[in-house]
Amino acid sequence: MAAHQIPADYEALGSALETVGYFAEESVCASVFLSLRLQRPLFCEGEPGVGKTALAHAVSEAFNWPLFRLQCYEGLDESDALYAWDFSRQLLHMRVAETVGRKDAESLESELYDRRFLQPRAILKAFETTPSVLLIDEIDRADDEFEAFLLEALSEYAITVPQLGTIKAAVPPFVIVTSNRTRDVHDALKRRCLYQWIEHPSIARERAIIERCFPAIPVPLADQILAAVARLRGAGMLKAPGIAESLDWARSLLALGATEITPREAALTLGTVLKYHEDQARVISGKYSLLVPQGA
Ligand SMILES: Nc1ncnc2c1ncn2[C@@H]1O[C@H](COP(=O)(O)OP(=O)(O)OP(=O)(O)O)[C@@H](O)[C@H]1O
Ligand SMILES: [Mg+2]
Repeated sequence: MAAHQIPADYEALGSALETVGYFAEESVCASVFLSLRLQRPLFCEGEPGVGKTALAHAVSEAFNWPLFRLQCYEGLDESDALYAWDFSRQLLHMRVAETVGRKDAESLESELYDRRFLQPRAILKAFETTPSVLLIDEIDRADDEFEAFLLEALSEYAITVPQLGTIKAAVPPFVIVTSNRTRDVHDALKRRCLYQWIEHPSIARERAIIERCFPAIPVPLADQILAAVARLRGAGMLKAPGIAESLDWARSLLALGATEITPREAALTLGTVLKYHEDQARVISGKYSLLVPQGA
């Protein structure tokens, strides 16, 4: 990305994210801004549903930069993340060569490793697209070995294909690495990155998110949702609701035509806001007092 495409300051960056519906705390805007300026990956950790993945999508949408996403999982390897050779096309090429009676085995072999038979995966695609966003989602699900070659790729924004040489990004993509912290990621990788812990949003910010999604939501209902979600987050639930749950809850309450949260509405919509049986049982045994307005 050319420097002129990056907003002049983090406030402008925050406004650009808001235009596509992503409402970020100041520290998050500053980290994205610095990550762009310093051309360093941004390592984002936080509870589920706080907007780590959505941040990458928002940057992509706000600046119209294509997004390349690599969803991590156990066993993810280089051929899933960097590139793979297209064996079936290589084979076809050989068959055609045989058919036309070519005997120059050596040049034939080198042709098989031509760029046109290389299938780029997310990381290489992002390195070859300027500007772009590279989302490496949920790194904590991948193995240590993956971290090692990610470290190598992100150190120089370059990938070495033994048969072709080194392919280097003309301009580094904006890289977001996310983690749910199911395990610690090595310091060596973190050292390459800027680090951002994303908190649950403040009430004001979550209100902006809800109102953006549901412009016609009655203010008292929005107030009640925000207060209840904040209570649940402070109540030590097994899985506190994230922003996705707040939005689902609002969507469900509106679909039921609710204008306020009574124990009846709370019971009918419980599964949209709490996804663990134990958490639900706690709320039910407390007669929904965590969900309904205090004093109601
Ligand atoms: N700051 C925000 N502004 C607007 N919407 C947001 C924001 N953060 C999250 N959301 C909404 O919440 C949903 C959940 O966010 P997201 O999937 O990015 O969370 P996550 O942190 O990646 O969660 P997980 O760890 O479970 O993958 C998004 O689809 C988006 O609709
Ligand atoms: Mg995510």
